[in-house]
Formats: sequence, C-alpha cells, structure tokens
Amino acid sequence: MKSLIDIMELSTAEIDELIETALDIIANPAKYSEKCKGKKLASLFFEPSTRTRLSFEAAMYELGGNVIGFSEANSSSAAKGESVADTARTVSCYADIIAMRHPKEGAPYVASLKASIPVINAGDGGHNHPTQTLADLLTIRKEKGRFDNLTVGVCGDLKFGRTVHSLIGAMSRYSGVKFVLISPEELKVPEYIKTEILDPKGIEYKESASLEAVMPELDILYMTRVQRERFFNEADYIRLKDTYILTAEKLATAKDDLCVMHPLPRVNEISVNVDDDPRACYFKQVLYGKYMRMALILKLLEEAAK
Ligand code: NCD
Repeated sequence: MKSLIDIMELSTAEIDELIETALDIIANPAKYSEKCKGKKLASLFFEPSTRTRLSFEAAMYELGGNVIGFSEANSSSAAKGESVADTARTVSCYADIIAMRHPKEGAPYVASLKASIPVINAGDGGHNHPTQTLADLLTIRKEKGRFDNLTVGVCGDLKFGRTVHSLIGAMSRYSGVKFVLISPEELKVPEYIKTEILDPKGIEYKESASLEAVMPELDILYMTRVQRERFFNEADYIRLKDTYILTAEKLATAKDDLCVMHPLPRVNEISVNVDDDPRACYFKQVLYGKYMRMALILKLLEEAAK
C-alpha cells in the first residue's frame, strides 16, 4: 500500500495489524519516540479541521518526526489557482508523507497519482474519511472487544457525512454486523452505499427516521453533525440541523453497554448532559485517532522505504 485514499483499500489483516501497532504504541510509547526521526509530514488542509489535523501533527511529533504544511487553502498557492496535482508534486520535494484534506471528492486521489511520496486522505468532501474510520475501529475494538455481531446505528447526516460512508464500508466486512440507518428522508445514505457495499455483501440493514424507536437494539450509536458546508441551501440546513438531539433521557431505553460515538465536532446533536454517561465514548475516540494515525504513518513510511 503506497497511499491510503479509501478504507476499502485495506485488507482485514492490514486493519488488524494497524490496530495491534496502535495498541503497542499505547503500551510502549518510548519504543516509538524516534521511529520517524528525520522524517517530515506535510499536512495540507484545504478545509477546516481541529482533530484530524492536530492528531496527524501530534502523531508525527510523537514519532520523533517534524511537520510542515498549511491549514487553509487561502494561505497556499491554491488561492492563486494551482492544481492539486502540482501542489502534490511540489510537496514531494520537501516531505516524506502527505496528509491531505480537501473539499473536492477525489482530490487526495489525484494528489496520490502525482506525488512521489505516500498520500493519506484526511477527508475529501462528502466522500470518504479513512483515518477517522481507523480511529472508530480502535474505539470499537477497545470498547466492545470485537467487530462481529454488532448492531451499528448511524444517525444524522448520512448523505454528506463522509465518516459514515467509510465506517459502513469498514464494518461491512465483519460477520453478523447489522446497520440501522437513522436519518431524515433528505439525508439518507447515497444509493452507492447500498448498491456497492450493503446489497452485494448481503448485509442486513434497515432505515429509520426515529432514533427513539431503534435505541434499544443498538450496540453502537454513531451520531453525526449535519454537514452545513455541503448544503446548497441554508434554509434546508436550518430545517434539518436539529432533527436528532441525543439526551441523557433518550439513553434510558438503550443497552447498558451501548457505545456512543461521534467523529466530532458536535454542534447540537449530543447534549452535554450525555458526556458523563459511561457509554459516551467520543472523547476517547479522539485519543484513539492519534494512535491509529501514528500506526498508519509508520506503516506507509516503512512500505515507501521498501
Ligand atoms: C468529521 C469530518 O471532518 O468529516 N470530523 C473529523 O474529522 N473528526 C466530521 C464532521 O466534520 O462532522
């Protein structure tokens, strides 16, 4: 694997290996503190980010490496009209690995075709977000101890939520996984998720407009933000943004070992009164993301050196 653009490029064995590395990093951080000495991560963020960018940067520093980059398109030559392909070629002269977030679907893929160093997709438009899924998988492994036989509820903006698309792809490879797709009519998962992932693999799923109706069935509840920046119309965003608000009261009918996840940032969709519930896992998920990104950087740099 040269780059990571889509979570489906990773085999189950490769995901297991990344998780084992992340667990080893958590247990023995000192062993990894110089693994990337002399190496540079280019963090190219053409779209806002807190967790993804800072966790990539923290990951590289904790591996003993350095970071260069930009955090908004306006401070890069993209503002002058430079193509992603040319930016990728240029950055290949300065760095050893690229993490790229871009509002256009496919931009990190285009970059990976022209870069001479590995490119990691750190989120491309409403499409994919494979490293968030790696964080999600480590969270599920730590909290549930397994990936199979889980009922996974994904709730909110399933249309534009790229984390949901990557998570469904990754979890669909495990046996006995069922999905409950909870969204308003306008924000249902794109058809290709059904025709290319769920249906061909014979995965059991159902759609629900009500979170309360399905709450008791869920092992995992993955809440998402309504993706304002992908709407064409502000009125539609305002109408849909507060469709689901998870409160402590709504958790009353949930399983005792439910795992509540959210890629964050949260806007309104999880009330702060849920934060102290032992089932709230979204801040642990943030920390796990850093370890999975460390494991991924290590793996891609090792493969690039072969
Ligand atoms: C997500 C993203 O950027 O897609 N955030 C993240 O990377 N943790 C989710 C979101 O922005 O709603």
